[in-house]
Parts: sequence; structure tokens; C-alpha cells
Amino acid sequence: MALPVVDTEYLKEIEKARRDLRALIANRNCAPIMLRLAWHDAGTYDVSTKTGGPNGSIRNQEEYSHGSNNGLKKAIDFCEEVKSKHPKITYADLYQLAGVVAVEVTGGPTIDFVSGRKDSRISPREGRLPDAKKGAPHLRDIFYRMGLSDKDIVALSGGHTLGRAHPERSGFDGPWTEDPLKFDNSYFVELLKGESEGLLKLPTDKALLEDPEFRPYVELYAKDEDAFFKDYAESHKKLSELGFTPG
Ligand code: HEM
Repeated sequence: MALPVVDTEYLKEIEKARRDLRALIANRNCAPIMLRLAWHDAGTYDVSTKTGGPNGSIRNQEEYSHGSNNGLKKAIDFCEEVKSKHPKITYADLYQLAGVVAVEVTGGPTIDFVSGRKDSRISPREGRLPDAKKGAPHLRDIFYRMGLSDKDIVALSGGHTLGRAHPERSGFDGPWTEDPLKFDNSYFVELLKGESEGLLKLPTDKALLEDPEFRPYVELYAKDEDAFFKDYAESHKKLSELGFTPG
């Protein structure tokens, strides 16, 4: 599909969509699933073949039906409400804008957003997103394939400050933090504390503690929220722009 023309009119629509997303996310309390949608559209990127990535392809039934995307149709439908009011905006931009707004309205850092992503109807094969039952080598396989780093892996895992796991979607259950609608550094504080009644730690979360390269970032982010916000904002921007060169 063709590149969108990012002119003054397009940017005006982006600002309107940003406001609509703020209202929609507040009304439906759906920040976590919107962030997860943005991450799962982007996280299929393969730097060597330049396929996948934040291109809106998660809207294809073929892709949102992948096991790892269970539950995300709801977020796709929420975004459709905004898309119908601002049809010019590409799905690729809209999903990434929703992710940025979700972080912002729950108290997280401001993430720089650049528009102009192209939509694709081509979905990658299942299996490009991380498997929560695995360890550090798997996390590296997946995130290095996207072209991301160890620091990105730890900072982005802090996205689990929002939301929860649902047994009917992933087989896991529960939130990572006491306030799953507040974006802060509590994911890292809880991770260092160890098991807490009612809070979840995935095997991939625990892997961050055990790995000598990952652990120093966990310790830093637990004690210094500003450092987490700064690194998170940078890593999130990278994730949201995989394979995209702003025109
Ligand atoms: C939820 C795995 C990275 C954001 C989940 C769930 C799993 C999971 C199993 C539960 C899904 C459900 O049952 O509803 C992983 C693994 C990762 C990872 C293995 C590898 C590091 C990320 C990243 C972000 C993120 C990078 C965003 C920056 C979220 C959010 C939720 C979630 C916000 C909550 C969704 C909701 O409340 O509906 N993740 N995730 N995750 N993930 Fe991750």
C-alpha cells in the first residue's frame, strides 16, 4: 500500500485522533490492551528481511488469530472507532499512536511520535512474538531479530507496569503491580521484591533478574524512576518505528 502523505492536514487529523484516543482510553479503561496492541503490531519486525513491524497488519484476521494475540481484537475494534472518524490516518500510525497515548494518560513518559507509517495486508507467520515460558536466550533471539538491545528488552518489559494476564487468553493470571492502570516503575520494584501474593511474574520477567546483563537495568529502574522513564521513552520510540524511516 502507498505511503500516506504527511501534510498539514494529516498532522491535524493525528492531533484530533490523539484527543479521541485519550477520551476513549479514559472511558473504557483500556490503556493496557492498547499498549499491548501497539507492541504486538510492531514486535513482529525482522531486521534481516525487513518484514513485519508496525504496519497495521495485526488487523488481518490471519494475524490477530495467532495465539499470542488472544484478546487483541477488542483493542482493534476500539481503534476502528477512531479510524472511522479519521479515515486518512493509516492503521499503522493509529495503533502506534494508541500505544503512545496509553502510556501518557496513565502517568508514563511522553513518547515522541512521528507519523507516516505505511499499512500492509501481509501478515508474518505465527511465532515472531516472545514466548512467556522461556528464558533470557529466547528474549535475546526475539528482540535482537527486531534489531533491539539488552537495554531495550529490560526497559520495554517495564510495559508490564500496566495491565494483567487473563487465563482465557494466555493461561497466566493476574497483574504485575498493585495499580495496573498506573504507569510507573513498580514493575521493577516488585520484580526485585520476589513473589508477592496475587502478583504475577512470568518466566520471561524472572529471566531479567537472573541474567547478568539484564539485572543492572532492573536495579537501576527500581531505584530511579526518571532513568526508567527516559530509557522507556527511547526504547518505545524505537519499537514504534521499526522498519520505518520518517519521510
Ligand atoms: C500482557 C508476555 C513484553 C505490554 C502480557 C501477557 C503475556 C505477556 C503472557 C498476558 C496476556 C493476557 O493474558 O491477556 C510478554 C512477554 C514479553 C512481553 C513474554 C517479552 C519481553 C511486553 C512489552 C510490552 C508489553 C515489550 C509493551 C511495551 C503488555 C501489556 C499487557 C501485557 C500492557 C497487559 C494487557 C492487558 O491487560 O490486557 N504480556 N510480554 N509486554 N503485555 Fe507483555
